[in-house]
Amino acid sequence: MNQKMSWWILFFVSIGIMIIFTISYLTLDPAKSRVMIQSTTIQYLVLVSHIIFAFIALLTGFFQFIDRFRLQYSKIHRYIGRIYVSSIFISGLLALVVILYMEDFTKAVAFLTLDILWLFTCWKGYRSAVKKVLKNIIFG
Ligand code: HEM
Repeated sequence: MNQKMSWWILFFVSIGIMIIFTISYLTLDPAKSRVMIQSTTIQYLVLVSHIIFAFIALLTGFFQFIDRFRLQYSKIHRYIGRIYVSSIFISGLLALVVILYMEDFTKAVAFLTLDILWLFTCWKGYRSAVKKVLKNIIFG
């Protein structure tokens, strides 16, 4: 199986799994949540927003790794990149609130670690992309 084929399989499997997990939250019906809801205002709204922004982040993230797209449409690549980074930051910060509602301490610590890693790696990636663009502008 070539690399291109594996990439498309990964893309469709990931999107498929995300849709299955996300769809019940798009109904905006707290009764359909798999996560235990204690507050239908703050907790539920934050959870749904976290899920929507995480979905946008994963969807846009895939396009950032297509070399041909990046090279041919660098301006669009940069716009999508900004959406990607913003979505991760919004979703990641909202996840911190979702974590506050978790009753299982071990699970909360695991999610918190994951969240910090997500935000940190995204920030590092963003900084290195900006540095590369600036270097190209200065040195051509
Ligand atoms: C590493 C970053 C992430 C962190 C720290 C995080 C954090 C959380 C937390 C704490 C919950 C509540 C879990 C519970 O109370 O049992 C949750 C639920 C959820 N998150 Fe995220 N999340 C992350 C990334 C994502 C991504 C990339 C998606 C993709 C769309 C996503 C989609 C969801 C969904 C669908 C739920 C509800 C799960 C269910 O119905 O069982 N999250 N997340």
